Amino acid sequence: MESTATAPALTGDPALTRDVKKRRTFAIISHPDAGKTTLTEKLLLFGGAIQMAGTVKGKKSGKFATSDWMAVEQERGISVASSVMQFAYGDCVFNLLDTPGHKDFSEDTYRVLTAVDAAIMVVDAAKGVEEQTIKLLEVCRLRDTPIITFINKMDREVREPLELLDEIESILKIHCAPVTWPIGMGKRFQGVYHLIHNEILRFKPGEENASQQFESLQGLGDDALRELFPLEANTLLSEIELVRGAGATFDLDDFLAGKQTPVFFGSGINNFGVREVLRALSDWAPSPLPREAVERVVDPTEPRFTGFVFKIQANMDPQHRDRVAFFRVCSGRYSPGMKVRHRRTGKDMKIANAVVFMANERTRMEDAVAGDIIGIHNHGQLHIGDTLTEGEALQYKGIPYFAPELFSRPRLRDPLRAKQLNKGLLELGEEGAVQVFAPFTDNTLLIGAVGPLQFEIVAHRLKTEYGVDASFENAGIHTARWVTCPDAQHLAEFTKANTLKLAKDVDGNLVYLADTRVNLQLAQERWPKVAFHDTREHGQVMG
Ligand code: G4P
Repeated sequence: MESTATAPALTGDPALTRDVKKRRTFAIISHPDAGKTTLTEKLLLFGGAIQMAGTVKGKKSGKFATSDWMAVEQERGISVASSVMQFAYGDCVFNLLDTPGHKDFSEDTYRVLTAVDAAIMVVDAAKGVEEQTIKLLEVCRLRDTPIITFINKMDREVREPLELLDEIESILKIHCAPVTWPIGMGKRFQGVYHLIHNEILRFKPGEENASQQFESLQGLGDDALRELFPLEANTLLSEIELVRGAGATFDLDDFLAGKQTPVFFGSGINNFGVREVLRALSDWAPSPLPREAVERVVDPTEPRFTGFVFKIQANMDPQHRDRVAFFRVCSGRYSPGMKVRHRRTGKDMKIANAVVFMANERTRMEDAVAGDIIGIHNHGQLHIGDTLTEGEALQYKGIPYFAPELFSRPRLRDPLRAKQLNKGLLELGEEGAVQVFAPFTDNTLLIGAVGPLQFEIVAHRLKTEYGVDASFENAGIHTARWVTCPDAQHLAEFTKANTLKLAKDVDGNLVYLADTRVNLQLAQERWPKVAFHDTREHGQVMG
């Protein structure tokens, strides 16, 4: 291993380049209940990663998604932790990153989305664009992530397809290029017409299974369509004419630039339309792209191993009480036991037994290239945003903390557990479940969150993982701002004058806690040379 930073060779070996080009790393985004879990499971079925569809379905019936593995999720029937699943289909290796569906976990979701190269947006055809879809798409737009749209639940009585496309275009501000078009809906859902292949895929309910082959009819003329679908053909033909007339044809460059989304209609639960989405991912979604670090842009086919941590999960498996850092490989090749340089601390470390995730099973990772996600066991040395390299001094960018909007102060029911409480809160803070602040004038840690459910989850996890029974009371704080000032003396004066309102975050950065919006404004006016930031980069020590 080298000890100094050197410019890496840009020509990778052909095997590495070939493997990188096969990778498709993506997430599924949707409003809760649109069908993300169902689609996840069907995609895994195609990839042969899991055998039985039934284990993912039916939160209400007491069976849970293989991706919903935490007890809290199971109790509540929501997905709060992200997991990663790898499966193969055709020539491609897919890495599917699960994102928490609940709006209280938007920060976590944002981080997961920094690690993907594309996303599938699931829209419930009866409900159209919903609140959480809007937020998630905004996040994707920050990085111009290419989006494939799946309009789900066509087997139900839903809204008119043209109306749905209109809504997506006007609310989400993204052009739609329908690739398949539905023929009927609900009980009369007959299948879809593939606009590019000029092919009909016929839907027959109950034909769902892994080796599903829905009947397909190629190149039908108008008369044949009228014969096949006497009730639906006229609507279908006029809608297709409209869609074609509107010039909304699929354009690969616009898709890759995040300006246009190819749209597929289907029924996840019936496995219908899922294969087309998978093909779109393999044919059109990008393989891992060059990624920006502070120092330079890194090409995924460079031979030297680099990557970054985008999520930490403690105690994922109650049997193992460990912490796993989810790490996206950005270049080079991982091999078991390799030595890497931890950029933030400057120390070398060995990745002895990284794991790959297959549904809820962990398998030892033998080989990983750009786009792959590996799980690295650690005892707290890895933080979100950390970069690991084979010696080069490199720091990947783009994983921010957002200023929390809710603050609480933990109250211990058993005062003797204070040490465990602090340990638990700091670890959960590093994991990103909440943000943790140490006030200057109070020994109790403060926790900040984006949504109230985060506090409940933290209380639950403190109890089950750290044996701490704590409640949370409102801390009466409106918002937080990270504070910097180039003038050290001015900063010292500011600190002295505001001790009661200051705290340190997990990385030791100075934070101003404003109890009201007006208070924040006044502080900004009074200290014009001090900068108040509402975001900061992970791992960043602000100066
Ligand atoms: P989520 O992860 O986005 O929250 O959604 P999930 O897949 O859990 O699906 C939400 C509900 O929608 C589930 O019903 C699921 O069965 C149903 N669903 C998903 N895809 C389709 C589809 O193509 N057609 C129809 N008709 N329904 C679909 P549930 O009643 O909440 O649970 P369950 O007991 O039926 O599983």
